[in-house]
Amino acid sequence: MTATLQRTTLRTSRTLDFASEKELIAQTGHQRDAWPLVILKELVDNAIDACEEAGTAPVIEVIVDNSGISVSDNGPGLPADTIKDILDFTVRVSSREAYVSPTRGAQGNALKTVVAMPFVLDGERGRIEIEAQGARHCIEMSVDRIRQEPVIAHEAKPIKARKGTKVRVFWPNLPRSNEADKKERFLQIATQYAWLNPHLHITVDWDGEHTTVKPTDTAWKKWLPSDPTSAHWYTDQHLERLIAGYISNDADAGRERTVRDFVSEFRGLSSTAKQKAVLGATELARAPLSKLVNGNVLDRAAMANLLVSMQEHSKPVKPPMLGVIGKEHFKQRFTDAGCEMDSFQYKKVTGTTDGVPWIVETAFGWTPDRPGRVLVTGVNWSPGIINPFRELGSFGESLDTVLSEQRANRGEPVILVLHMTCPRVEYTDRGKSAVVVKS
Ligand SMILES: Nc1ncnc2c1ncn2[C@@H]1O[C@H](COP(=O)(O)OP(=O)(O)OP(=O)(O)O)[C@@H](O)[C@H]1O
Ligand SMILES: [Mg+2]
Repeated sequence: MTATLQRTTLRTSRTLDFASEKELIAQTGHQRDAWPLVILKELVDNAIDACEEAGTAPVIEVIVDNSGISVSDNGPGLPADTIKDILDFTVRVSSREAYVSPTRGAQGNALKTVVAMPFVLDGERGRIEIEAQGARHCIEMSVDRIRQEPVIAHEAKPIKARKGTKVRVFWPNLPRSNEADKKERFLQIATQYAWLNPHLHITVDWDGEHTTVKPTDTAWKKWLPSDPTSAHWYTDQHLERLIAGYISNDADAGRERTVRDFVSEFRGLSSTAKQKAVLGATELARAPLSKLVNGNVLDRAAMANLLVSMQEHSKPVKPPMLGVIGKEHFKQRFTDAGCEMDSFQYKKVTGTTDGVPWIVETAFGWTPDRPGRVLVTGVNWSPGIINPFRELGSFGESLDTVLSEQRANRGEPVILVLHMTCPRVEYTDRGKSAVVVKS
């Protein structure tokens, strides 16, 4: 008689997938080589967003030394509860992801990838530290090899309270292990934040070498992450997503909100009169938001009607209200960069496509004392690690073609800025590295 194998169906946790190199490349859109830049960008995006949300002109300090990368800000401080959620790899945590608005963050898992990166780099364990709201959170990620699950050790110790948040990602020997051009790229991206954010004060300390860029206008106004979003920026799918998110969150928290509460959060719809106007003809006036769900199925038709009514009763946002970086700011930055100011050009184009406002700003200048071309490209006040405008939509042209037509080839000593502001940016990847520009 031959022996038979009784196979057992094995269940393993999928949360470990998150902590693999392949997954992090997919999530961030960047190879491992570029992860220090991803860490920089995600931490600085978060830091500036948090300061703006609190109404403070951002003062950011980036330090790179042999232990790793740290970014500190003068914002309200990352709350302990949010840190807990960030360390739960089974859920996505974001205060922005479901809203359509011109913010730097839009993906809703950046900090999770930042937590996983030093672990994947080391293979055994990765460490990060977060100081905020009077506590130092020491976080160490390792793996239970038997259960195939990430293990997070999280210890919070009280420290003297100080303003803001400091996130430190342990990344041994970063300044030493990298070639000179890696350092250049890191410093470039860090300082490009100051090109795209007139209110920003940023200091970068690369292994003892300091670079500081001061703000040109600490009172600079732009659309804030805390400003109500406009119904005109949403498609049916976006609204469905937000409503579903609210309903499930409320259910978890044992709360309920009405359709009216929901409507009142949108731009131009906060008054009782407006809410009545939006909901008047519908049966939703006093209904809970969960009325928009039949069993487990979203009532798509009711949501689509609601969106149409919200759009009819609120004015669209004009493009300049999103926030213009502005000619004066660029003039100052180009002057400081040694630009031949006769060659300086600035152009702003604004428009509205499918109800969604946008602004494109470009600036150009000769910098004869510089070795070559510098491209500053960004979307919603955040610079791209790689040029995010690789495809210029139906023009069928890449930015590089446009540049060579302008005789701004790589070797030419010029600085060229291309920036787009838009509440509904379509990225082609989850790491927000490439945008689709429709024309
Ligand atoms: N420096 C900070 N100060 C205060 N709150 C912060 C800070 N950094 C992050 N947060 C909070 O933590 C949340 C999660 O941050 P995370 O970067 O993971 O996602 P996100 O910024 O919402 O979206 P994205 O994935 O596009 O960056 C943020 O939504 C924000 O509420
Ligand atoms: Mg973020």
